[in-house]
Amino acid sequence: MSKSRNILITGGAGFIGSHVVRLFVNKYPKDHIYNLDALTYAGNLENLKDIEDAKNYTFLKADICNREQIKILFEKHQFDSVIHLAAESHVDRSITNPFAFVETNVMGTLNLLHAAHHLWKNSDKNHLFYHISTDEVYGTLGSTGLFTEETAYDPNSPYSASKASSDHFVRAFGETYGLPYVISNCSNNYGPNQFPEKLIPLFINNIINNKPLPVYGDGNYTRDWLFVIDHADAIDLIFNKGNLGETYNIGGFNEWKNIDLVKVLCQQMDSKLGRKQGESENLITFVKDRPGHDLRYAIDASKINKNLGWKPSVTFEEGLSQTIDWYLNNENWLKNVTSGDYQKYYDEQYK
Ligand code: NAD
Ligand code: DAU
Repeated sequence: MSKSRNILITGGAGFIGSHVVRLFVNKYPKDHIYNLDALTYAGNLENLKDIEDAKNYTFLKADICNREQIKILFEKHQFDSVIHLAAESHVDRSITNPFAFVETNVMGTLNLLHAAHHLWKNSDKNHLFYHISTDEVYGTLGSTGLFTEETAYDPNSPYSASKASSDHFVRAFGETYGLPYVISNCSNNYGPNQFPEKLIPLFINNIINNKPLPVYGDGNYTRDWLFVIDHADAIDLIFNKGNLGETYNIGGFNEWKNIDLVKVLCQQMDSKLGRKQGESENLITFVKDRPGHDLRYAIDASKINKNLGWKPSVTFEEGLSQTIDWYLNNENWLKNVTSGDYQKYYDEQYK
């Protein structure tokens, strides 16, 4: 019988992290899942209401930038493995305040690596530091081609530069200290619980409130969209079956130009809200472009598909429909996260 594991998940109160925590708490009742999160503007324990009393779950409010606190928590709870998602994750915020991104994404990751190395260096147990990263580290594609695991890093925004740097530190700890690690680089996620600063939830919220839909530039930028639950499943597979020291790209095989995606979103919203078709599309407003805006991301996910048998389980239309239903059924969640500082952020960003 396999031994029970103490698994640390960082950033578990955020969008993707909350889906990963739920999956692990429910799927691995013999393991203990620790969710470490600083509860920044993006962290929300409401995301985990359904599992907060589970016997195999503990929430730890802590900041990964606090090296001493992190070291103490590793020693106290004897984490066997780490799935590291905590990060500043929004590109637009990284353009306004790059320092926060270096502090959390680079220094915070370094603190976790340091604590893991110190705890595990003389241990004969199985350990794993699993770093969750992004396809943005590869920079931008032209109109053709796909990012593979061999694509050279070429980040363009302060966010992607900080994530690229953290990936390099993870690899460096593997090479230098023998830290067992794996990294995955995923494309754009969407789904329930995403903070409404990102394209899809921001536009859903604006459509509900009949506010303009601010499309950057000409809208001809392409992203590869993946339903968050499919990302969580991929993370579970890589965590349990991935090869140490390797990278896995994860993507949706699902490229959309922003403007086309927004039109599909508007059509679905009009049907669900009982509005006349075309009503939401009238809210589309072309606004000033994002500086350094990457033209196109698209993932070649054939490695994880061939080696681990993973593929997305839902079509984009199904996933989008489920996502819209979640936001329509969770009006209070939306109201809570869009009160207070959100309005200030919104006015600054879209003035
Ligand atoms: P998110 O912004 O929704 O959540 C981030 C979480 O990290 C929040 O709960 C926040 O409170 C926590 N956090 C932030 N700073 C912290 C700190 N200093 N100490 C402890 N906790 C802190 O982010 P997300 O979209 O769920 O992304 C999670 C991870 O996945 C990130 O590492 C991101 O780079 C990566 N990723 C995201 C996407 C995407 O499309 N959202 C795609 C690929 C990779
Ligand atoms: O590719 C993975 C990355 O996807 C993750 O690493 C990031 O954490 C995540 O935020 C996401 O980054 P993007 O910058 O691609 O996501 P965002 O939702 O901010 O924007 C998606 C596209 O929509 C992008 O081309 C910019 C555009 N956009 C976005 C917003 C918020 C608009 O046109 N208008 C907007 O108001």
